[in-house]
Amino acid sequence: MGFVGLTTAAVFAEKKITVYGVDNDKNKASQIASSKAPFFEPDLEHVIRRTVNSGKLIPTTDLLSSISKSEIVFVCVGTPMKPDGSVNLDYIKKVSTQIGQAMKSVSAYPIICVKSTVPPGTTERIITKLIQSKSGKTAGQHFGIAMTPEFLREGSAVSDMRTPHLIVIGSSDENVQERMSAFFRKIYGTQTKMITTNTISAELIKYANNSFLATKISFINTIANVCNRIAGADVDRIADAIGSDPRIGNLFLKAGPGYGGSCFPKDVSGFIHYCKQIGYDPVLLKATDLVNRNQINIILEILNKELGKLEDKSISILGTAFKKDTDDIRESVSIKLVNKLKKARANIHIHDPMALENTRLTLGNNRIYYFSDISSAINSADCIILMTDWDEYKRINEKTLSMAKDACLIIDTRRILKFNLSARFRYIALGRS
Ligand code: UGA
Repeated sequence: MGFVGLTTAAVFAEKKITVYGVDNDKNKASQIASSKAPFFEPDLEHVIRRTVNSGKLIPTTDLLSSISKSEIVFVCVGTPMKPDGSVNLDYIKKVSTQIGQAMKSVSAYPIICVKSTVPPGTTERIITKLIQSKSGKTAGQHFGIAMTPEFLREGSAVSDMRTPHLIVIGSSDENVQERMSAFFRKIYGTQTKMITTNTISAELIKYANNSFLATKISFINTIANVCNRIAGADVDRIADAIGSDPRIGNLFLKAGPGYGGSCFPKDVSGFIHYCKQIGYDPVLLKATDLVNRNQINIILEILNKELGKLEDKSISILGTAFKKDTDDIRESVSIKLVNKLKKARANIHIHDPMALENTRLTLGNNRIYYFSDISSAINSADCIILMTDWDEYKRINEKTLSMAKDACLIIDTRRILKFNLSARFRYIALGRS
């Protein structure tokens, strides 16, 4: 019942499917049972409340009985990044073992469908093998195997799940493909595009999709970095123009501090590792990753140039969530920046509309101060850095900034401020000279 699992469970339950939402964390299961979402996601709690009350969503820790009552078992456990950048499959192995053990006493023919993002080959070589060896049963005879990658985004997960742009069904078993197609048709009707393929291509589709989007962001960040050095250049006008070419498209062309979150950094890095394992050097993906890692240095270079030594400087960070409409700070560039500023012995004032608590739990209180309103967060600031694209920040005006020091430096990493600042401030926007 993590991000993908809980959203899937709640939206399927909303579509009148009976869903057992299994998690090994008792607290989480009981939190969901009392209609609470364990993390913030627009609309999700509302859907949980309705589906738990209607009895369609049944949160539980009982994997065995849930599997025995289910026609399809979606595997949605996390596949985090290891310190060396490769994919940690521990949770996948653990849950596959548990499913295998549970399958011993199951007489029906369930389909085990992998939704977690896994390196190509994992579904057949690890998951299927573990289920077979632990259950003593055979894929294709006693149970089916499928891989259906997930494309939902944090911040719009519920609407993405309600109306996906695409369903991918990966399975080498025609019977499984038919059953999964029928299941998704029942939920989404005939309008939603569906692609049927084998499991390895389905696994690759997810890596290709996220790597392409990440590359698009690193591409526009490259153009932004060029713009930084040319008088009069403006990355947003360029993105608008090239995005009008239908072959390019205007989405994911917003230059910024670099992509974060639990998916792009991990998936690009995991894919690079996978490519190397199969003897291919993925230069393009390595460049995507490198450009992304380097964005933070561009902010630090500006800081060093404009403020000199950062020791005891008061720096306000607006936004620690990796993007707007979420309280998720995983792989957030903003968090990485705060850690660097802390090392340089600056005093850091943080504001975020949603992620303040998660930030405090991660960063602690040494040299870091937390504020729930923007004006207090920027009080006496030597520098304000806008990091997350929260709508609230688009409404900032000169009055909101009135408590900052004179000659305060403003670094707008996402070009959020839309008004002409008075000469009291020094304003630098990434992607504009
Ligand atoms: C991403 C994908 O968009 C989803 O399709 C996918 O299902 C998901 O990963 C996943 O693999 O589970 P998500 O991580 O929720 O979704 O967030 P995105 O909206 O893709 O944003 C990722 C990062 O890129 C954020 O830090 C965002 O600020 C940044 N970004 C995005 C840009 O800097 N510029 C853009 O134009 C778009």
